[in-house]
Amino acid sequence: MSYSDRKGIILAGGTGSRLFPITKGISKQLIPVYDKPMIFYPLSTLMLAGIKDILIITTKEDLKIFKSCLGNGDNFGVKISYEIQPKPEGIAQAFIIGEKFIGNSPVALILGDNIFYGEGISSLLKGANKKKNSSIFAYQVSDPERYGVVEFSKDGKAIGIQEKPKDPKSKFAITGIYFYDNSVVKKAKEISSSPRGELEISDINDIYLKEGNLSVEVFERGIAWLDTGTVDSLHEASSFIRTIEHRQGLKICCPEEIAWRNGWISNLKLEKLALNYLKSGYGSYLLSLLED
Ligand code: DAU
Repeated sequence: MSYSDRKGIILAGGTGSRLFPITKGISKQLIPVYDKPMIFYPLSTLMLAGIKDILIITTKEDLKIFKSCLGNGDNFGVKISYEIQPKPEGIAQAFIIGEKFIGNSPVALILGDNIFYGEGISSLLKGANKKKNSSIFAYQVSDPERYGVVEFSKDGKAIGIQEKPKDPKSKFAITGIYFYDNSVVKKAKEISSSPRGELEISDINDIYLKEGNLSVEVFERGIAWLDTGTVDSLHEASSFIRTIEHRQGLKICCPEEIAWRNGWISNLKLEKLALNYLKSGYGSYLLSLLED
């Protein structure tokens, strides 16, 4: 199975309760992070990895609005389909909901609120996409107890993963992008719910690790993994994106640009898309790509 057959899933359900009242009437993954909806960032990340067949899992209430935002993926040169997660019963449930979509393929999952940016990220993602083994990524954070945390042996080998440990064994959090082989569907069906009532992604990672079939790569400090979990971190993520975009005159995680640079949409298509967005400046940015 070649890497171009890997399917991608964006998990964009949940209640967004940590951002209430902002997310009382709208999905967290559709609120803006500076100049674009949050979902554009994980969508771009999968596209940068080279993934073109993408499933978005969201709630029944939010489905319609996701469809009007992203459609069938045609504007981004990809194929987008949708499934519903009736209740937020855990990240690993994505593989059960997505079983039919995944079929016999390997799959990458990204959480709809995870933002990645930085030097070399595309080649790291493309590398993980091409590998037969499953891969996840760790990142040093100041508050590891809020995440899945990886434990390393003295010689730097990953030996365990715990979800939100009270006493973290390292400062390395597992980020919300995961590349798995097809056995993830079976694994997701085999694990049981945690005490908080969720099918934990950390349990899946732990099984892969024990099988000796998981590479845990580290995103170095030149890469930004941004948090959008609280009102303050969301604001900080927006400011970060704004700062870099203003300085460089380049947009971060603009899926139309990525599609065009990947050769997935034509010049003519980009120009047509740009004309829809001229009033916001997003359109003039897309047009400027054609001029450069
Ligand atoms: O962001 C990375 C972390 O994400 C990992 O380090 C943890 O191992 C992993 O469990 C997860 O932790 P969080 O506490 O951040 O997960 P949260 O419940 O906030 O869910 C993350 C996103 O996934 C959020 O946008 C909502 C969505 N979600 C979550 C669950 C549990 C769903 O769509 N459905 C769900 O059932």
